[in-house]
Amino acid sequence: MKRIALIGTGVIGTGWAARLLSQGCVISAWDPAKKFDTELKKNIEEIWPTLEKIGVSSDASIDNLKTFKTLQEACCDAELIQESVPEDMRIKRDIHNAIGKSSNKDAFIASSSSGILPSDIQGACNNPANFVVGHPFNPVYILPLVEIVGGKDTSQSTIDTFREFYASMNMHPLVVRKEIEGYLSDRLQEAQWREILHLINDDIANTKELDEAIIYGPGLRWAIMGTCLTFHLAGGRSGMRHMLEQFGPALELPWTKLKAPELTDDLIEKMVSGTSEQAGEKTVKELEKLRDACLIEILQALKKFNVGAGKYIQS
Ligand SMILES: NC(=O)c1ccc[n+]([C@@H]2O[C@H](COP(=O)([O-])OP(=O)(O)OC[C@H]3O[C@@H](n4cnc5c(N)ncnc54)[C@H](O)[C@@H]3O)[C@@H](O)[C@H]2O)c1
Repeated sequence: MKRIALIGTGVIGTGWAARLLSQGCVISAWDPAKKFDTELKKNIEEIWPTLEKIGVSSDASIDNLKTFKTLQEACCDAELIQESVPEDMRIKRDIHNAIGKSSNKDAFIASSSSGILPSDIQGACNNPANFVVGHPFNPVYILPLVEIVGGKDTSQSTIDTFREFYASMNMHPLVVRKEIEGYLSDRLQEAQWREILHLINDDIANTKELDEAIIYGPGLRWAIMGTCLTFHLAGGRSGMRHMLEQFGPALELPWTKLKAPELTDDLIEKMVSGTSEQAGEKTVKELEKLRDACLIEILQALKKFNVGAGKYIQS
């Protein structure tokens, strides 16, 4: 499938546009924001040199980006539609209703939602069997993971179609077997995020210390093996079994606080001032460029050993 409509061109829609263009797709895009077309083109031109470093297909061209003034025009000829509008159930349902009225009944439709149950969106679709959540990760043009989540009316052939399509875009499709709020990756991230908020709220650490606790240690390992296989190695020669025997009892200790703390003004202020102090003089844009440059080096290093996300870049 090469004719793709993108509905919503904020952070995630722009990321999809860049990745899909780089793999030779023809994109028709729409967003309600004024001047979204010039902003989208400008952002993709800025991202393109980064894409060239990790591999652009021979038929790829920025000229394959077409923008439209209405959702109807963007959707009418598309084989696949990827929606990336705000994470708000009312907006999602309205937009999927409009997509249903404007698109071919055979078109495959995905929402980039970060946590909404697909069953709660697909009721608004014209053809619910052809709908999934296709949850990507920012920046979509570099990170290969995309979670595919079907709802109660999604057909198996639709799941298979999306798995093949995303794989053909050099992505790692991870099919979530049963729909659940937050899917897999965001549930893992949310657990850590909740713990961070508690540790800050209780004045045990600041944001810089908590980030140091990740980036110089566990964070480096996660890109290679994830948590489970990393802990298998923590058990020495007997692997996971010994690891569980040794550290299992700690699960009974009060090491985690599962319930999220209240987001008081004081907690919000600590999070905001802590992270802005860490950023120092650097703007978000500058930090994004720094992050992207580092991610590419990491991916290229992983590629040398054919592990983790390194398997998904061409050069
Ligand atoms: N930002 C992330 O890290 C991330 C990661 C994965 C998935 N997502 C998901 O992707 C989706 C989009 O998130 P984002 O971060 O790109 O948001 P964003 O705010 O950057 O972009 C949303 C876009 O939707 C447009 N929009 C606003 N109101 C609209 C409406 N009523 N109808 C149609 N379009 C409207 C805006 O003009 C904007 O361009 C959300 O479902 C979000 O949960 C976000």
